[in-house]
Amino acid sequence: MMVTWLDFWQQENEFDQSMSVNYDYFLDRVEKYISLSPTDKVLDIGSGPGNLEDAWYNKVREIHGIDISKRYNEIARSKHMHHPNVHFYDLSPDDYLNFNLISDQRFNVIIVMSVVQYYRNTAEIEQLLKSIKQVAAPNAKALICDLMVGGSVLKDIWSMIGRSFKQRQLLATIKLLVRLRLSSYYAVRQKNGFLTIPQQEWLRICRQVGLNANFIDEPLTMQQERRNLLIQF
Ligand SMILES: C[S@@+](CC[C@H](N)C(=O)[O-])C[C@H]1O[C@@H](n2cnc3c(N)ncnc32)[C@H](O)[C@@H]1O
Repeated sequence: MMVTWLDFWQQENEFDQSMSVNYDYFLDRVEKYISLSPTDKVLDIGSGPGNLEDAWYNKVREIHGIDISKRYNEIARSKHMHHPNVHFYDLSPDDYLNFNLISDQRFNVIIVMSVVQYYRNTAEIEQLLKSIKQVAAPNAKALICDLMVGGSVLKDIWSMIGRSFKQRQLLATIKLLVRLRLSSYYAVRQKNGFLTIPQQEWLRICRQVGLNANFIDEPLTMQQERRNLLIQF
């Protein structure tokens, strides 16, 4: 039986097909804040099925995805087996704050997209930020996206419905929401909730870790209530 988010991501789930729609929305906007260059070395924390790698592998020098889900890493590896500049690493689900696998590398772009709501508490977020600081190259940028900073689940759902209507994705979104309600996702969410951290608390933790961070005004994901934090090194 699935009990935690870690269990959830190891199994086939309703997001497998739908994640890329939200990702396209993000891809259309992200380069306004992070301009890519062919010399960039990118780290994608919580890379899932490899949406970022699919979009950027031929725009940057190297791209490295790291995830607790072996299943997603296998899907992503098979898509990119002929791309020698794309790498995926299996984070231990029991020790996912341990970034030893990549700690000797330096990255100038770091993306964390729709991941930290599955962490357990703010102490883990602080550790994540310290790890990001450790692997960031001079002048790097890190974007931590789709952050839940308050408000209710209902508001989150309404904002997604509103945006998907404008994006002509309404039917697909409603189908996804119904499937989620009927699936193990609902039980896991009821049991574990999402990690929600107010914006001021994010900024406080960043200051504590010694990071220069600001929230971007424009929404970057379909869930318009969620915020996006840009860290500049
Ligand atoms: C909603 S998916 C997002 C995937 C990808 N970033 C995207 O937007 O297409 C969440 C991803 O975070 C991963 N994940 C969850 N908890 C994690 C953790 N503690 N460390 C690393 N990855 C994690 C899951 O396995 C899953 O691939």
